[in-house]
Amino acid sequence: MRYADITGWGKCTPPAILTNADLSTFLETDDEWIQSRTGMQERRISHVPVSDLAHIACERALAAAGKTASDVELIIFGSCSFDQMVPNAASRVQQLLGADNAACIDLNTACTSGMYALSVATAMIKTGSVKSTLVIGAEVTSVLMDWSDRDVAVLFGDGAAAFLLEASDQKSGVVAESLGCFGKHRDILDVTGWGTKYINQGLVLGDTKWNFNGPEIFKRAVIGMSKACDNVLEKENLAKEEIDLVVPHQANLRIIDALAKRMGAGEEKVFVNIQRYGNMSAATAPLALVEAVEEGRVTPGAKLLLPAFGGGLTWSAHLINWGARTTPLGTTDVDLPPCAKTGLELVQDIIAAKKAAQA
Ligand code: ACO
Repeated sequence: MRYADITGWGKCTPPAILTNADLSTFLETDDEWIQSRTGMQERRISHVPVSDLAHIACERALAAAGKTASDVELIIFGSCSFDQMVPNAASRVQQLLGADNAACIDLNTACTSGMYALSVATAMIKTGSVKSTLVIGAEVTSVLMDWSDRDVAVLFGDGAAAFLLEASDQKSGVVAESLGCFGKHRDILDVTGWGTKYINQGLVLGDTKWNFNGPEIFKRAVIGMSKACDNVLEKENLAKEEIDLVVPHQANLRIIDALAKRMGAGEEKVFVNIQRYGNMSAATAPLALVEAVEEGRVTPGAKLLLPAFGGGLTWSAHLINWGARTTPLGTTDVDLPPCAKTGLELVQDIIAAKKAAQA
């Protein structure tokens, strides 16, 4: 049987930080509300398009695997904030990397996009279509945010993560998964102004309004992710106690806590980085996994469970058998261009640009 081992991993977090205190300078909100309701303290705001973040994460993943761009046969880019629809974002990553032998796919399932990309990549390696794939979960929602809406503006941040998957005979990488969608309830998380249908309704593309029912999403996130976790454990005939680390999607610390309680997982078995980044949508679970490895929370052969949830309402859980290596084979000097602005200044620029476009 052929598997898709994760041999390289990398992240790219833009340097500009937007704190809760920064948000309270232009929204009626405060640090106490945001921290107590969500667990978030700060998030990152990107000064470059999403494919630039993805490119750096991929360079780091390739270096960690000791591979070059020409070894890559496929790039799957999971996101819902691509910098362009045509040409696609994966082709820009191919161009920036010089990965001339790679096919290029963009994939959107909202916050679960990085994890669905991992499924597609694993399946294509298992069937023998390709031997190596770069999987990306990356998001720059800051440019699509409605910065006048405190209900949503405090929740999101920008970031990117990438993995290199390579064919292996060892039972490693994704060994079981459960994917699904509560399509009947797709309207409880709906962003207007972010797609072509709105042009006929007199809306300007990019002039977004986030219509979402937070408490309903909260409930369904816990139900969807718990169900997906149960499904994968059953598929592999594993007990909850046999999981070494749960690395969940990070939309709200209280969602993570509710899920952990259902899983019977104590703090030491759950990886949390929401305080640093907020919800990075498609980048969230992949970047959490990269940090879990970097922080030594993933041991060789560890069994990892990654539940995720997003618009659609898509849900998923992946059971990963981590391979033998938890240290990168190499590093790279390639980095983002420097950013001279603070997170707050970047957000003020976005607000001003949108106002100017509407005038
Ligand atoms: N600062 C201060 N007050 C606020 C803020 C804010 N940033 N945002 C909302 N409030 C107010 C509301 O107006 C409301 O006031 P009211 O009682 O006077 O009407 C009050 O706080 C409570 O609002 P609730 O929506 O009941 O707050 P809740 O405890 O449910 O927390 C939250 C809201 C954080 C959105 C939560 O419901 C949640 O995490 N939901 C799921 C996650 C989610 O929806 N993420 C975005 C979707 S993407 C995804 O990853 C699935």
